[in-house]
Amino acid sequence: MAEHFKLTIDGQTVVAEEGMTILDAALASNIYIPHLCNHPDLTPVGACRMCGVEVDGGRMVMSCMTPAKANIDVVTDSPDIEKSRKVTMKLMIMDHNMDCLACEAAEKCDLLRVASYLGIQPDQLENMRPLGRDLPLDTSNPFFQFDANKCILCGICVRTCEEIVGLSALGYINRGFKTVVGTFGNKGFVDSVCESCGECVVRCPVGALVPKKPGIATREVRTICAYCGVGCGMYVGVKGDQIVSVRGDRESPVNLGSLCVKGRYGFNYINHPDRLTSPLIKKDGEFVKASWDEALALIASKFKESKGNKFAALTSAKCTNEDNYLVQKFTRLVMETNTIDHCARL
Ligand code: FES
Repeated sequence: MAEHFKLTIDGQTVVAEEGMTILDAALASNIYIPHLCNHPDLTPVGACRMCGVEVDGGRMVMSCMTPAKANIDVVTDSPDIEKSRKVTMKLMIMDHNMDCLACEAAEKCDLLRVASYLGIQPDQLENMRPLGRDLPLDTSNPFFQFDANKCILCGICVRTCEEIVGLSALGYINRGFKTVVGTFGNKGFVDSVCESCGECVVRCPVGALVPKKPGIATREVRTICAYCGVGCGMYVGVKGDQIVSVRGDRESPVNLGSLCVKGRYGFNYINHPDRLTSPLIKKDGEFVKASWDEALALIASKFKESKGNKFAALTSAKCTNEDNYLVQKFTRLVMETNTIDHCARL
């Protein structure tokens, strides 16, 4: 069991757990420290310099990188801290496309949230020179787009792809002012090893990585992904009778909030006009709609005629273990053949 200890943050005694950073300890005790590049799922890197705090009488440290220790005294706000954060924030804003009204991130944008926390006003930016970057939008991925002009180089997408997805499809390109996040060889996302899972998109704190079709749901339903037998937990966002968004369920022990491309983005088939909604039976060379009773009776009669070597079954990863088990039992015992296989072997 992790060891617990006490420290002081802004004069308040808080309890922290071994392994926590000062930022973790503060957030766990509902003490806000502005931060942009920290994410609870990822290794901290101290890139944004926003989470500075003073420890033990004035030594400034990045709270996301500094382990919480017993009996230390942390100050999260002081004239020096505020000055440092404001300068850093102004530089970040100067390097960022601030067309907030047209941005998909809108009220979810952490940059906007921290800027407003710091009380940055437009007149404070007047004597600063915007970098005026005009980098091309990468719309090559079918599900999301990347706007490097809005990227704050927090590295959350890079670390997500490396630490959670295990692909390292993203990295840093160029050096100095010209540094941007991109794929190997600065190709479009679609030409990289990216698997379009969208894990980077859900963690992007600004509007740099956003879904192409952001759906605004009126309610969410907790469910399990229907794509394969893994059984990832998810919340589907519903508007009317349509699914408009999907997000992973962090409470699910199966996927801890992660999803693959199919689970996250592959829901258009549900309301697609080409989707089969009833069984079809071929009559006189044409498929015609049939009832389930009619279809099942036909299948049963054909099965009766096809026992032994005339029969083979191919099961599916979309089915549960139990379904697959039953199909193999049915194949061996009822259909009297061992000719059974599973799509996972293909
Ligand atoms: Fe600590 Fe970015 S959150 S440096």
